[in-house]
Amino acid sequence: MNNMKNPFVYGSIVTKEHFVGREKEIKELTASLLGGQHVILYSPRKFGKSSLVEETFRRINNSRKAIAFRISLQRVETGEALASMLIDETVKRTYSSVEKLSKELKGLFKKINVRVFVDKEGKMGIEPVFKETKDALEDALNFPERVAKKKNKRIIVCFDEFQEIEKFNGLRIEKLFRAIIEAHKNVSYMFTGSEKHTISLMFESKSRPFYRFARFLELKTIPDDCLRNFIIKKFNATNKDITDKAAEMVIKFSEGIPFYVQCICHEAWYLSEKKITKEIIKQALDEKILPSLTPGFELIWNRIRSELQRRLLLAMAVEDKADYSMSFIEKYKLKSSGQVKKSLEALEKSGLVYNKRIDDFFFRKWIKKYRTYHGY
Ligand SMILES: Nc1ncnc2c1ncn2[C@@H]1O[C@H](COP(=O)(O)OP(=O)(O)OP(=O)(O)O)[C@@H](O)[C@H]1O
Ligand SMILES: [Mg+2]
Repeated sequence: MNNMKNPFVYGSIVTKEHFVGREKEIKELTASLLGGQHVILYSPRKFGKSSLVEETFRRINNSRKAIAFRISLQRVETGEALASMLIDETVKRTYSSVEKLSKELKGLFKKINVRVFVDKEGKMGIEPVFKETKDALEDALNFPERVAKKKNKRIIVCFDEFQEIEKFNGLRIEKLFRAIIEAHKNVSYMFTGSEKHTISLMFESKSRPFYRFARFLELKTIPDDCLRNFIIKKFNATNKDITDKAAEMVIKFSEGIPFYVQCICHEAWYLSEKKITKEIIKQALDEKILPSLTPGFELIWNRIRSELQRRLLLAMAVEDKADYSMSFIEKYKLKSSGQVKKSLEALEKSGLVYNKRIDDFFFRKWIKKYRTYHGY
C-alpha cells in the first residue's frame, strides 16, 4: 500500500511545490507592484488567479521588499465587514506587539474608534467601533497607507474578485474607493476579476471611477509542456507512473487550465497503485468526477427552460462547437440560424457558453454522458 500523500491539489489555493509555471507573470506582477503600479488581473474562472496572487505575495513577503496580502471580496457581504477585514489583515501583517500597536493607533484613524484585543489563541486583533459605514470604510481604506508610511515600507493589497464590489452599493462605493486610494503613495493595489464584462466596464469606461486606474493583465492558460512535466514529476515523486498517452489525454482535456489537470490527476492517483493509463483517466472522469458534479449540473440544467437552448447545449457537447451551417441546424433541430444566434447569446450571458463552446469542460462531458439521447 502506497501511504504517500496525494500530490495533486484542487479546490483550494495552491502555492509552493503545488504551484507550477507562471514565472513570467510572477516577475511582471512583482516588478509592477513593487514599483508602485496598480494592476488588474483578469482571467476566466479557475485559471489560477488567486493562486498566482498568493504565490507572488509569498515570494514578495519572503524577500521583505514589501508587505503583501489578499482580501477576497467573495467572502465579505457588507461594507462594514470589508472595513473590518481590511483593518484586521493590515494589523496582522504589520504589527507583532499589542503595546506598539496601541501606542501608534492614535494617528492611524481619524473618523472611527478602535479597540485592540488579544483572542483566546493569543492572536492580536483590532475591532472598529463606528456609527456610519462610510466613516468605517474611509478609515479602513486609508489604514494600509497610513501604516505603510509609518513603517516606511510598501504595502500591497489585492482585492480578489473585485467585481463583487457591485454587491455593496454600486457606484457609491466604487467612487469612494477610487477617491481614497488615488491619493495613496505607499500602497500598490491589485484587483482580480473573472467576469470580463464587469471588469472591462469598471476599468475601461470613461464614466466609471476606476477608468484607466491600473495596468491590465490577462492571465492565459499554462503551456502544455509545463503541465506535462508537472504531471509526470508528481506521479513519479509518489512512486507512480503515468503513460505518455494518459498524460496526453489529461493535457488535451484540460486545455491548459491547471484546475482540470489537478482535479483529474487527483482522482486518477487514487485509482491505481502503480501505472496511470488512459483507462484510469477515463475511470476517474466517469466514476469519480462527473457523478460528484451531477447535483450541481442538474440544477443548472433544470434552470434552462428553453428547449432550443438545451438542444444547442447537446449539440455543442457532441460537436464541441456550435455553428450556423444548415447541416448543424437540421441535425439538432435548431430551427434557423437566427434562433441559434439568440440561444447562443442567452447561454453566453448566463456564463455557460463562451466562443460558441460550453465553457466548463466537465459540464461538456457531463451533458454528453448523461443528457444525449434523453428524449432529444
Ligand atoms: N499555477 C498553478 N499550478 C498548479 N495548479 C494550479 C495553479 N493555478 C491554479 N491551479 C489549480 O487550479 C485551482 C484553482 O485555482 P485558483 O483558485 O487559484 O483559480 P482562480 O482563477 O482564482 O479561480 P476562481 O475563479 O474560482 O477564483 C487550484 O485549486 C489548483 O488546483
Ligand atoms: Mg480566485
